Amino acid sequence: MFKRIADLRTEDNVGKTILLRGWIHRLRKQKEKTFIILRDDRGDIIQAVCPSKFCENLMIESSIEIQGKLEKDPRAVEGGYEVKVDKILIFNIANADYPIGEYQSDEILLDFRHLSLRTRKMINVGKLRNSLLRYSREWFAKDDWMEVTPPILVQSSVEGGSTLFEVKYFNEKAYLSQSSQLYLESMIYCLGPVWTISPSFRAEKSRTIRHLAEFTHLEAEAPWINMTDLITIQEKLIFSIITQIKEHNKKELEFLNAAAAKKLDEISTPFEKITYDKAIDNLRSIECRIRDNDGKERLIEWGDDLNLESERELTRDRSNPIFVTNYPLRIKPFYVKQDPLNEKTGLAVDLLAPQGYGEISGGGIREDNLEKLTKRIRETDLNPNDYSWYLDLRKYGSVPHGGFGLGLERLLRWILDFDDIKNVTLFPRTMTRILP
Ligand code: 4AD
Ligand code: MG
Repeated sequence: MFKRIADLRTEDNVGKTILLRGWIHRLRKQKEKTFIILRDDRGDIIQAVCPSKFCENLMIESSIEIQGKLEKDPRAVEGGYEVKVDKILIFNIANADYPIGEYQSDEILLDFRHLSLRTRKMINVGKLRNSLLRYSREWFAKDDWMEVTPPILVQSSVEGGSTLFEVKYFNEKAYLSQSSQLYLESMIYCLGPVWTISPSFRAEKSRTIRHLAEFTHLEAEAPWINMTDLITIQEKLIFSIITQIKEHNKKELEFLNAAAAKKLDEISTPFEKITYDKAIDNLRSIECRIRDNDGKERLIEWGDDLNLESERELTRDRSNPIFVTNYPLRIKPFYVKQDPLNEKTGLAVDLLAPQGYGEISGGGIREDNLEKLTKRIRETDLNPNDYSWYLDLRKYGSVPHGGFGLGLERLLRWILDFDDIKNVTLFPRTMTRILP
């Protein structure tokens, strides 16, 4: 394997000849000398000075290999090292019309995402995404959860029919999975606590800065857990991920948003927990208003779902996320377990990120009683026949259990304080975008 800039840019190597491969990030041609900023395949950059006669046809984003002496030069970018090139090998001379310049609109950057991935911003986002995946995987492995890969092609809706993507499945209809929950639930009987990171799909008709049509869904499910366990699991997982990226991703966080990186230091466990009832009381006390479907404004009341504005009010001036528990059953999906102490509410829990970043995870304890579950399926206008396999889980050895789903892009958007979820996604899919 060839070596990278990070391996070679060291005090020990000064005066030695090194070999590097990468792409021309910036190019400044003078009569005798050409200054190249070389970017390697991990996004590190180094200045290289090359006799101009070797560089005549070079354009930015050309791929090259350079050989030369490493020198110290305090004026050079990134750590004050420079390569005095004596040999250059060209893999490909890029066309002159590279569409990504230094200042481009967000739309152009999205239209050319296959190329704008090479910007330092997206390289750093890519590294943080890798860390979120790695550190969540490490946390689950250490806590002895089983990682599973549930199916993506399914026939039952989990989160309601309105956001299903339909696909032709031989001679039948199928859908792209909205959540792996029902499959994870069936696995706890034989594998114990299970978890997955899988794509989930939602045909979201709204164009918002926090909805994607395809997102990275981290989901977990475990037998014999109660609400307190479920909350503690999420708290530990999220705190561990944040602690790890603070330790291992300082450079990326600083580059993308130094202020947001500082904010992470204020996060501590346990996170605050409030019930939905209390949340509504608080919101009414500050006269939080919502808009009805017919457009009329009114004071929020018990039974309303929490929308972006109410979530913002609840989390204003906080540094920690907040768990909201015990929602009215009728605003939650069929699988939520009825609260044994209050038949109108269910044992559901959402985690709201501070400062209005909104919901980052949703979950709860599942209805484990066959009759109640069947009744709830009917009440939400679904057909129990479509869920016969899922109902079997309540017929044959049902146990109390629960789980949650966390949107990785939602989590990263909050961590980085980015306004649009598309900017933490390598290839975002939305109502108006499926290319590239
Ligand atoms: O709240 P949701 O819809 O809950 C479920 O899907 C449960 N079945 C999960 C479970 O209990 N296993 O989605 C869970 C999380 C949300 O809190 C949010 O972070 C993310 O998934 N999410 C989205 N992220 C980006 N774009 C969308 N359209 C999203 N929809 C949900
Ligand atoms: Mg939700």
